Amino acid sequence: MNRIDIFSDKETYELHININKIYINELLKETKAVVIDENVYELYKMTYNFNISTLIFIDAKEYKKTPEFALKLCEQLMLKGVKRKDKIIALGGGITQDLVTFSTSILYRGIKWIWLPTTLLAQADSCIGGKSSLNYKSWKNIIGNFYPPSQIIIQSDFLKTLKEDDIRSGIGEIIKVHLLSGKKSIEYIISKLENYKHNKDIMSEIIFNSLKLKNKILEIDPLDQGLRLKMNYGHSFGHALEASTNFAISHGIAVTVGIDMANYLALKLNKLSSSEFNLLHNFIISNLKEKDYISFEFDDFITALKRDKKNDNQNYNLIIPISFGEVEITSLPIDDKSEKLFQNYFQEYYNDRT
Ligand SMILES: NC(=O)c1ccc[n+]([C@@H]2O[C@H](COP(=O)([O-])OP(=O)(O)OC[C@H]3O[C@@H](n4cnc5c(N)ncnc54)[C@H](O)[C@@H]3O)[C@@H](O)[C@H]2O)c1
Ligand SMILES: [Zn+2]
Repeated sequence: MNRIDIFSDKETYELHININKIYINELLKETKAVVIDENVYELYKMTYNFNISTLIFIDAKEYKKTPEFALKLCEQLMLKGVKRKDKIIALGGGITQDLVTFSTSILYRGIKWIWLPTTLLAQADSCIGGKSSLNYKSWKNIIGNFYPPSQIIIQSDFLKTLKEDDIRSGIGEIIKVHLLSGKKSIEYIISKLENYKHNKDIMSEIIFNSLKLKNKILEIDPLDQGLRLKMNYGHSFGHALEASTNFAISHGIAVTVGIDMANYLALKLNKLSSSEFNLLHNFIISNLKEKDYISFEFDDFITALKRDKKNDNQNYNLIIPISFGEVEITSLPIDDKSEKLFQNYFQEYYNDRT
């Protein structure tokens, strides 16, 4: 249970879970540049043999996830003497990944990189799929491309220093991929996350299973044109919640709420029975805390939802369950009736909690 071959439109690359530290130190010795989240460096500078002259630090702030900072990163890589044939190493979470994916894809029209994700969200979800998403002015995740690393190494020990909120954010994406992958996967994740409360070590197994499930989807749709849209389950509502709370809610937490809301629509459209909805609802909200229910203006939520990339002029195109364990893109007219439905969800399950 420590290797997966990951599919992309270009080539298959390897992902390893929990490999020997000696191998990582060898990689660090050989490379000219290591791009690293500055917090990760502070926490792990004694764990791995970093060569200070190779290091380029990332201050993982959402407002710095821009093309301007990606270009700056290209400049820093050139100043480290990186050439076309060199392979660099990167360590950090999703922000570091988005910047490094973009920079390595454009520098010399593409240099190779090895990726060591250090957050749960990056380890269990974003590390595969090869996407970059940068912010531009007030547009979020609007500039990007596909440029996977040539190798991924997941060391679950990195999770030990993550804040509890960042763990729950990653769990949001873990829940998502399991709830859309069939009845067995739903049963699996409900029981594993229950065990996780008493035994943190099982997280590597959960990460492995999440990546296996996502990889199955990537294999069929590496460029995000059809089946892969399913990975957007919970995301239309999640993104709208992120925007309307001014990004006070973290991505995976917003997705957690978004999944529950998508399930609520499925309940109202008679795609889920109330016992199925309740089973999922109780499981999903176990990933939430009181402080996650941040207040927001419903009008701002609707404005953001209307801007979703998947919509057409007349319809919201949402990923919602069509049965227990199966999701599909579903159109809902952009009108007052739909708005009322969304509002009902918040009144019933969100507002009276704040
Ligand atoms: N490209 C994609 O496919 C994709 C998918 C999902 C999310 N994203 C993006 O990822 C970003 C969120 O990423 P994220 O949640 O992984 O984290 P992040 O990169 O925002 O980091 C979160 C915090 O954790 C710290 N950190 C990182 N590793 C740590 C460790 N091991 N111990 C302690 N602290 C650590 C960071 O310094 C930072 O303060 C968003 O910008 C989102 O848009 C991209
Ligand atoms: Zn996501």
